[in-house]
Amino acid sequence: MIALFPGSFDPVTLGHLEIIERASALFDLLVVGVFHNPQKQTGAFCVEERLALLERACGALQNVKARAFDGLVADAVGKCRADVIVRGVRTGQDIETELQMARLNRKLCGAETFFLAASPHTVHISASMVREIGRLGGDLAGLVPKAVLPLVQETLGRMKHS
Ligand code: PNS
Repeated sequence: MIALFPGSFDPVTLGHLEIIERASALFDLLVVGVFHNPQKQTGAFCVEERLALLERACGALQNVKARAFDGLVADAVGKCRADVIVRGVRTGQDIETELQMARLNRKLCGAETFFLAASPHTVHISASMVREIGRLGGDLAGLVPKAVLPLVQETLGRMKHS
């Protein structure tokens, strides 16, 4: 079975990596789909940079491929021949939004959404907080994958001056 894990991944966090590792153990192929979310105006990395960070973070996982998509998740499901969509959930607040998206995506393309519950050791991590902490000079160790830590720390740290 092929699964699509769609997200902004701006940047990839240890929360994302946990979901990627767990989902890659469940499916034959996991496509990590990088989308531009027009509702998020405070982004830090362009789509190409986000892809490169994902590739570095997931390098050891043979059945994981990162790919950029334009437009709807429902259309990307067809483009990568995915059977299901995967999303991670952290809080009750996440679930409200995720249920709406899952129902809409099922209506649009027929794909079911599999939810993976974030573990206690990653539940506090969000990419928006990583961006804020990094831009304000805070330590991102334990929040982003080790393989991308120096690059993410340095890039966000430079942004506080721009
Ligand atoms: O990591 P994020 O920012 O929570 O991911 C959001 C994402 C990519 C899932 C959302 O922005 C999205 O679905 N974008 C594509 C447009 C789309 O399909 N919209 C309808 C959703 S039902």
